[in-house]
Parts: sequence; C-alpha cells; structure tokens
Amino acid sequence: MSYISMLLQKVHHDREKEILKELQEFHEKDYHFNSGHILGSMCSQPHPIAKKAYDIFLETNIGDPGLFKGTREIEKRFIFFIQNLLNAPPSASGLTVSGGTEGNITGMWIAKQLSQNQEIIIPASAHFSFQKIATLMDMKLKPIPLTSDFKMDAASIKKRISSKTAAVVGIAGSTDLGVIDPIEEIGEICNDEHVYFHVDAAFGGFIIPFLEKLGLHQGKFDFSIDGVSSISIDAHKMGFAAIPLGTIILREKEWLDEISVLSSCINSTKQAGILGTRSGGPVAAGYAVTRYLGLEGYQEIANHCMDTTFYACEQFQNMGLSLVIDPELNVICIRLKKPQKIVTMLEQKGWRVNPVDHLSSIRIVCMPQITKEHIDNFIPVLKEVCKKAGEI
Ligand SMILES: Cc1ncc(COP(=O)(O)O)c(C=O)c1O
Repeated sequence: MSYISMLLQKVHHDREKEILKELQEFHEKDYHFNSGHILGSMCSQPHPIAKKAYDIFLETNIGDPGLFKGTREIEKRFIFFIQNLLNAPPSASGLTVSGGTEGNITGMWIAKQLSQNQEIIIPASAHFSFQKIATLMDMKLKPIPLTSDFKMDAASIKKRISSKTAAVVGIAGSTDLGVIDPIEEIGEICNDEHVYFHVDAAFGGFIIPFLEKLGLHQGKFDFSIDGVSSISIDAHKMGFAAIPLGTIILREKEWLDEISVLSSCINSTKQAGILGTRSGGPVAAGYAVTRYLGLEGYQEIANHCMDTTFYACEQFQNMGLSLVIDPELNVICIRLKKPQKIVTMLEQKGWRVNPVDHLSSIRIVCMPQITKEHIDNFIPVLKEVCKKAGEI
C-alpha cells in the first residue's frame, strides 16, 4: 500500500469516527422502540433479520429491475406472500410501496383511471392520506358517517354511490381506534353497483388474518370477498419489517397498465407506480422477515399483541380510566378530559402516547415490541399524571 493511500485511510478512519459520533449524538435525541416508551406509534421495531437484509441490498434500485434482477425476484416473492395472506385470486398482482399513504394514493389513482370519475366515498374515520389524495389528484371526498361502534355505516353507502363515483374505501384497522369496517357488507354493495372497492388495511392487514384462531374477529376482510378490488397493507406496521415498506395488491394484474408509463433510460420498457428510483433494502428486509417468521410467527405476534392489549386495558380500567371502545385490534383509546395535557405530562416523563383530539382521548398501540413489563412500568407513571391532572 502506498504512503498516500495509507494516509488517506487514516484520515478516512478519523473522519468516519467523527461523523458516526455526531450521528450517534443526534440519534440519542430520538425515542427508541426498544425502550418500550413509544406507546402511540403504529410502527414496529424491525425484526433483527430485517436489519441484516436491508444492509445487503442498500445499493439496489428496484426502479431499475433490468439491473437488479435478483432484487426484483425478491419483490415478486414478497408480493406473492402478501397475495396469499390476503387470499388474492390468480389474476392478482401488486406493487411494493413506501407505506399506507402511497398504497392509498396508488389505489385511488387506479380507480380514477378505470372509472374516469373523481368522487371517493370514504368513512369519516379514513386516514388523512385521503386528504392528500383529494388535492393531489383533484378528487372529491364524500365522507360517510360512522355508526355508534365507530364503523362505516354501510347502509349510507348505496345512497351516496352515483355516476361520479370512482371508488368506495373501507378500513380494516382504523388509525384512531383499530376498528374494522363491515368489509363484507360494503363489498357486496360495491359488487352489485360495479364500483371499485379499496380496503385500507395498512394497519390491520398483518394482524386480522390471525385473529380467528384467537376467537376474535371472525369476519372476512380480504379478496375472499368478491367486491374487493384492492388492498393496501403495511409491512412496517404489524409486519415487523423496516420502514418504509407497504404493499398494494390489485385483483387484476392488468390494472397496473393504468398506472404504467413508458420508461426510457432504464433497463426496462415500462414502469408502474408513483416512484422512480426506490431502494430494494426495505423489500429485502420485509421478505427476510416473512421468510423467517412464516404464518406461524405472525400468529404468535398476533397472540402476543392481543394478550398485551387486553392486559393493558384491564390495568387502565382498574385505575378508574374508561376506554372509548373495547379494542378489536391492538389499539387502545383512553377517554380523558384533557388528553393533550396528559400527552405533555407523559412526554416530560419520557413516555410517548398519541392524542386523538376528536375523541377526547389518547391512543396506545401494543405493537410487537411492547410487553406486559413495559405496561407495568408505564402504569404508575400514567396513574401519577392522571391524578395530578384530576383525571382520576
Ligand atoms: C389505516 C391507515 N392507513 C394509512 C396510513 C398511512 O400509512 P403511512 O404512514 O405508512 O403512509 C396509516 C398510518 O397510520 C393508517 O393507520
């Protein structure tokens, strides 16, 4: 090795140390999933194999599948796993996306193209990504009121469908409460009316299929319902994978043509979806997690999350707090007089929960990394702040 390259290596090594130290200092300002103190987020601490897989595929670009044939093969296999999870028919296909927002945008883009219409019938509980969709794609949202159990009122949908309707959206695991809309009923209506039906299962997609074995949710929510056209599902939420990774599955492969353009300058002729260059890292990570866990692993995660949820609910109720609803999924909403005040007081003590202002409540999500021990550590802190704030 020449003198100059040795010198450069030394300089490099010192610079690397300095930069990593700087990054670590920033990272220490973050909350960390492994602390168990992040109780409001719908993202999970990635499974350890996700990190290793991500690292191997750091330089890959799935937007250029001609160059990264192996990575593209992984993407296909990952999508196939999701298709099976969601009981998709052989005609189905899909895309990996960055998450629920991109999945929903993609679904509405297809619905708009297929129908040439602009109105979207959504439940009042729809995720705020639909507001982005409305302005981005010049579409009109037609919100449907919720029933007393916070679900989309299926009876109102038929009245709202018109010649201007591009799509109906139902939610399988709502953002605020983890509620599952009556997907079967909505599917039947959409099938009869020949309207595109998108299911937003960004949160619920990786847990609802495993509830039946626990004697919990028994209803269908996926492609086994004829009327369902597309489903968005996030691996970086209940899939235990790394951010950013979601998937949109379409009932008909041909619908990808509606969102494809001719692509010069890359090693393939057509590109579907919103993004151009996109990393294969999260896709490889997601695939590795699904291979590692398999359906049995996801069943265990569902058991764990629901067990922790019911345990936490009992502790909150024993404390004299009341819940907005009995949870259907691993999402708990505690009703409070001044939720924002409690959020701030908890933050001062190093715990993060999310406010749900319109329900005058705070949201706690029992993600895979949350254990009963974390709940036990949280309870005295919550009790103290609730007493101080006059909530109990
Ligand atoms: C039901 C639902 N849909 C969509 C999204 C958006 O997902 P993302 O933040 O990954 O884009 C969320 C996020 O929490 C969600 O709960």
